[in-house]
Amino acid sequence: MGIIRAAHLIYDYITRDDETGTETASRAIDDVDLDVDAGDFIAILGHNGSGKSTLAKHINALLTPTGGSIWVKDMDTKDENHTWDIRQSAGMVFQNPDNQIIGSIVEEDVGFGPENIGVPTDEIWQRVDQSLKAVGMTEYRTHSPNKLSGGQKQRVAIAGVMAMRPECIVLDEPTAMLDPNGRKEVLRTVHELNREAGVTVVLITHYMDEVIDADKVFVMDDGKVVMQGRPKEIFSQVEKLKALRLDVPQVTELAYELKKSGLPLPDGVLTIGELTSALTPLLGTGHTTIHHGGSYVD
Ligand SMILES: Nc1ncnc2c1ncn2[C@@H]1O[C@H](COP(=O)(O)OP(=O)(O)OP(=O)(O)O)[C@@H](O)[C@H]1O
Ligand SMILES: [Mg+2]
Repeated sequence: MGIIRAAHLIYDYITRDDETGTETASRAIDDVDLDVDAGDFIAILGHNGSGKSTLAKHINALLTPTGGSIWVKDMDTKDENHTWDIRQSAGMVFQNPDNQIIGSIVEEDVGFGPENIGVPTDEIWQRVDQSLKAVGMTEYRTHSPNKLSGGQKQRVAIAGVMAMRPECIVLDEPTAMLDPNGRKEVLRTVHELNREAGVTVVLITHYMDEVIDADKVFVMDDGKVVMQGRPKEIFSQVEKLKALRLDVPQVTELAYELKKSGLPLPDGVLTIGELTSALTPLLGTGHTTIHHGGSYVD
């Protein structure tokens, strides 16, 4: 059974009109089932307001369900006895690194979480060392976070979460405020944590190219999970994604358009490499090669 599971999860935000005192409920999560295996890298896509952040906050017990249930490591988030364990098992990283960094020196910031829960000093330093190493920020340990780039700050924020030794991290658009370099740094870091430390990753993003290496993709719309599958399965359905107001990776779109215009190409092309090897045999002589450098179009 998965490390994160949800069954018939429902969440209503209640808004209260101060003048009339009437309360209205609006449904942000509408009957969601979810099953995430330990060690997986999961991506969640969806148009603005589709319920991604609301779902993320349930994994961390920041919100508790209006209906249905969600479990982290078999702990029901509704059970307040488990809130602490759940928050420690599933760390959260948000969009704005400036709101997550509190220390005035990088290593202090990373050690703050463990210190707060009474981890012995020796072990705090061990955790700080390991976490900074894991995000590639060791050389900045005595720097002031203020002077770091956005990508570096976000990596410090991730190190702070890692210092709590979570089994799972949930990242809610962690690259939305970063430049292309910062985005790459953070993505690389998250993939390394997944591969090397075996941390389960739930990545919420608007960027399609951040999704292609995920084990599984969930697509949300209007509070529901409307598609789920491997990236290739998801990106084979270009028209459906467009109907959900989502883009597809540029190379996928190009392959899709070429196919529509008559070239015999497969569905769900995700990388330039795949596209060139599908195109090369179609170029006639068989002697033509298309050179390419990166793994996907930026
Ligand atoms: N605090 C709140 N009070 C009332 N309604 C809210 C609140 N937060 C979110 N909502 C509503 O709940 C729905 C889901 O919002 P949510 O923030 O989970 O979506 P999202 O997919 O994360 O969007 P985005 O891509 O813009 O981050 C939206 O209709 C939103 O307006
Ligand atoms: Mg959101």
